[in-house]
Amino acid sequence: MTRLNRFLSAACILLASSLAGIAAAQTPAPLPAAAFPLPLDKKMNMVRCTTCHDAHFQSGGNGMLLRSGDINALCTDCHTLADTASPAAHLDPSTGVLWPGPQYGTLFPRVTDTSQRGFCSNCHQAHGWPDEANAGQDYPSLLVNREENLCFACHDGSPAAKNVIASFAKSYRHPTTDYSNRHTTTEDGVAANFGTSNRHAECTDCHDAHVARADATAPVAPAAWNSIRGVSRIAVTNGAAGTAPAYTYRGPTDTTAPVAEYQLCFKCHSSWTTRPAGQSDLAVRFNTNNPSFHPVEGQGKNLNINVNSFVPGWNALRTTYCSDCHADNDASVRGPHGSQYRYLLKRPYVASGASRTTAATEACFDCHTFATYASTVSSDTVLGYSRFNRPGFEEGHSFHVVKKGAPCYACHDSHASSTKPHLIVTGRVPGLNSYTETATGGSCSPTCHGTQTYRINYAR
Ligand code: HEC
Ligand code: HEC
Ligand code: HEC
Ligand code: HEC
Ligand code: HEC
Ligand code: HEC
Ligand code: HEC
Ligand code: HEC
Ligand code: HEC
Repeated sequence: MTRLNRFLSAACILLASSLAGIAAAQTPAPLPAAAFPLPLDKKMNMVRCTTCHDAHFQSGGNGMLLRSGDINALCTDCHTLADTASPAAHLDPSTGVLWPGPQYGTLFPRVTDTSQRGFCSNCHQAHGWPDEANAGQDYPSLLVNREENLCFACHDGSPAAKNVIASFAKSYRHPTTDYSNRHTTTEDGVAANFGTSNRHAECTDCHDAHVARADATAPVAPAAWNSIRGVSRIAVTNGAAGTAPAYTYRGPTDTTAPVAEYQLCFKCHSSWTTRPAGQSDLAVRFNTNNPSFHPVEGQGKNLNINVNSFVPGWNALRTTYCSDCHADNDASVRGPHGSQYRYLLKRPYVASGASRTTAATEACFDCHTFATYASTVSSDTVLGYSRFNRPGFEEGHSFHVVKKGAPCYACHDSHASSTKPHLIVTGRVPGLNSYTETATGGSCSPTCHGTQTYRINYAR
């Protein structure tokens, strides 16, 4: 009985007038009309035992004397779900899975009743469930485990196909497993809740378990996949180059276009909130009024780059996701969860201008052709796909990168530049002290030699 008593005090004694459907978490909705009678206590307007149970009789169902054997119908009689026409992966009555059994700390038993496929009851218990690690308490939100441990139960390779837990065990990862109890269901919309005094990134900061599902066809960057829809995000209106944009908070149910991946990242990686010392303000970096940027918020500024300077599938007209670069090194599990490489990159990258041999496995060559940018053994034709490789002249990419061991980092920023074209960066050592673009090429004064000019080998 203690469990029921706790439920009584925690969830039951709540005014039905404050009912907020999960699809409208921000605006309390009136109690929807009941498909079957769900009487509230007339005097106190409360959820009672008899709201869900019929003391005398249940036709069919699981023998729990519920007013409806269909637990989802029981719950959705009061809680609105975002999309019933194309249900979330977890709520699909035909493909949704059943809770696999006690693991990652909880003792909640395996759900064996196959009629509960896709039911709320695989993650929630109407009465709550005891938190093994905190005697006398239930897990929050009537869940059967806390935070990522709930998700790991299925997303460790079985029954869900992708082993996400392996990603979070890697050296560079979102700190999902590092903190508990920082995330709350009421934190949305308040920037300080994501800032330096409460830094965190739980699964539910990036995913909504009631909305997430696979895409029938892959969206085009920066449009968000269905897997990250239904979570709050930060939209931007860009001003002058190098300045922070105007921010608009968009709640979980706000589908105002665009619904973009970068807006999710900006919830924690822009000046909308506070970030650790030294971290870029990514919203300033990707401002589309900057002279150059990787095409995250929109198309880039250098659209006539020869298509052959890109690896097959990429070209200058394309847009990129943050997670085209920041992703698991194991390409079979998508998402910026964790990676064996620093900066949570899909491929390795050394953020230093120091002289070294650039390898074909590095981050940039996921999209830019290694043979064009970092090889001298390539033909003049292949080298010439880059404008900074004038055939017959030892001055361009291949000369610097291979012969002089100058890595991309010495001359380029990985994200953008708010003052220079071509992602050119000044002030790094070794690197460029200054750079000026001209109609036919450009000139620079590097830390390595005196001022030099170059000519481009095809029109910009
Ligand atoms: C919001 C709906 C809801 C309310 C309110 C509710 N229950 Fe339940 N109850 C359920 C559901 C759903 C189950 C079945 C759980 C399952 O099988 O996953 C259940 C199961 C039970 C069970 C059998 C399993 C167990 O946990 O021991 C008992 C006994 C029970 N409820 C008693 C009560 C009492 C007494 C109250 C009032 C204090 C109450 N319930 C209020 C939904 C509710
Ligand atoms: C008669 C209406 C009603 C039914 C049926 C109902 N709920 Fe609720 N539920 C509520 C109300 C009211 C609240 C409190 C909402 C608030 O605080 O704004 C609530 C709160 C919740 C919460 C949040 C608890 C917390 O700690 O924040 C969860 C989760 C939940 N319900 C799940 C369920 C599930 C699962 C079912 C089906 C077994 C269910 N509810 C059935 C009315 C209902
Ligand atoms: C795959 C697991 C899963 C399933 C299935 C699931 N939920 Fe949830 N639910 C969650 C998690 C996780 C949270 C906490 C969200 C957070 O941390 O922000 C939650 C939170 C909630 C809340 C509280 C929201 C708030 O703002 O406090 C309600 C209400 C709720 N769920 C209702 C339901 C109903 C109704 C169903 C079935 C139709 C359902 N859930 C099915 C995982 C699930
Ligand atoms: C009861 C098992 C179960 C639990 C618990 C669970 N999931 Fe899932 N989830 C699945 C299954 C099964 C799929 C369908 C895809 C698959 O088989 O991998 C899925 C799909 C998803 C997807 C969509 C993936 C896609 O195809 O793009 C996301 C995102 C997701 N889950 C996140 C979560 C999060 C976050 C939690 C914890 C709040 C969670 N899941 C808890 C079983 C579960
Ligand atoms: C074209 C590839 C690419 C894209 C797209 C990209 N990044 Fe990066 N990012 C990198 C590389 C490479 C580094 C390594 C460090 C460096 O070069 O400064 C990095 C570093 C970072 C860092 C740590 C260093 C810092 O600057 O604070 C953060 C945080 C980051 N990226 C977030 C993001 C976010 C958020 C997005 C999307 C809004 C994004 N990145 C898009 C390649 C990319
Ligand atoms: C910082 C944000 C963030 C966090 C935290 C996060 N995810 Fe993701 N996740 C994403 C993004 C973005 C994608 C989609 C990437 C894509 O489709 O390329 C994704 C994809 C997924 C997928 C689909 C993978 C596939 O290959 O189809 C699953 C399943 C998933 N996440 C589960 C989880 C679980 C479980 C947790 C917590 C343990 C979690 N995620 C934490 C951002 C996040
Ligand atoms: C809810 C907050 C949150 C969201 C949303 C989020 N992150 Fe993070 N991210 C963090 C935290 C916390 C860290 C750990 C370092 C820190 O505090 O910034 C981190 C670290 C990173 C790093 C490693 C930085 C480094 O210095 O090595 C990258 C890269 C990154 N995130 C990319 C992304 C991308 C891409 C997205 C969007 C798909 C995203 N993040 C969404 C909170 C978040
Ligand atoms: C996910 C694919 C992808 C990756 C990885 C990538 N790039 Fe790019 N890059 C692009 C695309 C697409 C463009 C074309 C944008 C345009 O036309 O302005 C581009 C353009 C550029 C430009 C020219 C920008 C201009 O305005 O002239 C430079 C310089 C550049 N990338 C450097 C790098 C470096 C250095 C790395 C590795 C740290 C890298 N890229 C990794 C996709 C990528
Ligand atoms: C010594 C400085 C330097 C280094 C090192 C360098 N770049 Fe560049 N890069 C430039 C300059 C200058 C331009 C501008 C060419 C122009 O005027 O259009 C450029 C342009 C580009 C472009 C735009 C398309 C084009 O014309 O080729 C890409 C993409 C690019 N660089 C990628 C890279 C990658 C990848 C690396 C590392 C393998 C790298 N660069 C290393 C100086 C450098």
